[in-house]
Amino acid sequence: MKTNQITFKVAKIADSTAKAIGIAVASDSAPAKEVGMTREQLSDLGFDGKLGQTLVLPNSKKQLTIVVGIGEAAKANADAMRNAAAALARASAKVVSLSTSLATAGRGDRATIAQAVTEGLILATHRYDALKSDKKATSKLKSVTLVAPGATNPAVTNGSKRGEIIADAVCLARDLANMPPAHLTAKMIAERAQKIGAETGVKVEVFNKDQLLAMGCGGMIGVNRGSVNPPRMVKISYRPSGARSAAKKSASKNAAKSKLPHLILVGKGVMYDSGGISLKPSDPSHAMMKADMTGAAAVLATMSTLNALGCKNQVTAYMMCTDNLPSGSAMAMGDVLTMRNGKTVEIHNTDAEGRLVLADGLSLAAEQKPDAIVDIATLTGACARALGPHMSGVMGNNQRFVDQVLSAANATDEQAWQLPLERKYRTLIDSYIADMKNVGGPDAGAITAALFLDEFTSGLPWAHIDIAGPMWADGDAGWLQRGATAYGTRLLVNLAESFKRR
Ligand code: BES
Ligand code: MN
Ligand code: ZN
Repeated sequence: MKTNQITFKVAKIADSTAKAIGIAVASDSAPAKEVGMTREQLSDLGFDGKLGQTLVLPNSKKQLTIVVGIGEAAKANADAMRNAAAALARASAKVVSLSTSLATAGRGDRATIAQAVTEGLILATHRYDALKSDKKATSKLKSVTLVAPGATNPAVTNGSKRGEIIADAVCLARDLANMPPAHLTAKMIAERAQKIGAETGVKVEVFNKDQLLAMGCGGMIGVNRGSVNPPRMVKISYRPSGARSAAKKSASKNAAKSKLPHLILVGKGVMYDSGGISLKPSDPSHAMMKADMTGAAAVLATMSTLNALGCKNQVTAYMMCTDNLPSGSAMAMGDVLTMRNGKTVEIHNTDAEGRLVLADGLSLAAEQKPDAIVDIATLTGACARALGPHMSGVMGNNQRFVDQVLSAANATDEQAWQLPLERKYRTLIDSYIADMKNVGGPDAGAITAALFLDEFTSGLPWAHIDIAGPMWADGDAGWLQRGATAYGTRLLVNLAESFKRR
């Protein structure tokens, strides 16, 4: 599903009609001869090949020659090359076409590098400009030729295709998260999910308010009580094609083994988080609470890629979508909700709503007895305070699965850091009237939130990714663009593909 504006070609020789030629230069080796300058000459112009540095020079063919630094040659891995490509895309923003050998620079597996370069070019070009009359801040870059001579060509072609599929999904999730609350209600994102499901070949089922009531999803109904916009839960199911016949063949031998590894994703989809009756103060920075559904957007974006990437695992997703608003009908402090799994929750702060909607999603996920469940949520300011904007916090009840999440984070340069799921803190969410309360007090807020979620996992392998920090970027930097980052999309795609039962 194409959401980005660039058409990619892979060719054995440079495109002589391109308006810009992008050439990688390392900080510790001689520049390629196409640069037409020595290290010393570049250095005199202030260019030393530092990662992400660019220098634009007009050449004799009325093109721009853009040299882009990739840092020390030995350290130019996929992460570095994604950032170098992003820098090249920014330097090429005023031209329509670019031809570059960047995808064959760098150290490591050719396809992986080409994928990272493609991702960097797309992600640094994307902008949510639907509401801008003047689009001059949007990159003009429309066509990119990745030059890959000889034996590198097939790997670069494959890697670049994968990079396009994945970066397209990130752009989709960014667009959804950047949309104003009134432009994207729970009902509207569910309709988008249905459309995306039809386009990408995944099954999409939408559950409305009556259905959620009938299912006993007290968390979803409780949070939604203050809103005139009804809630939606979206269930998305993916099975690899050909799985059924493969499963049938081995079914007679060993029924348990014939079951594909099954991973369930649960995304927080709070379309706008005002705090509810526990209203947030009117600080303009809370405009970003429109992106409190970015966990759900990342989950939807991930599901949209699985057919195109040929994912071998079974993957199911739940998007838990509602806004959180105050009104005469809103849930109040002291109210007690009964969640899908029967557990009761006393409300001590209506702004701790994410865990309430996730509780129902996790309960439904656990009922399917998958091999593992991962949830992704803009859950706590505490996590953002602790870890800042550059990494998520990961907690879980099963170290082997947590390790799989951390290695997916590492592979995609969507940084994550594990926090302890310290059981001693479980008493902080004890309630005198219900099974638990929905907040744990001022200390260890990210951990008490995770301990709350763990009550709904039935002890199945589970990990929680708190993305309150990295969900938003204050400025353009590397492959990040200002606004909603869609952090977690690339991580989840990697996890869905690499997931192992144990
Ligand atoms: N959506 C917020 C968390 C958040 C904060 C996300 C900043 C992104 C950036 C969440 O629903 C919330 O309001 N959490 C409260 C929990 C508290 C009431 C226990 C918080 O973190 O203050
Ligand atoms: Mn909140
Ligand atoms: Zn929230």
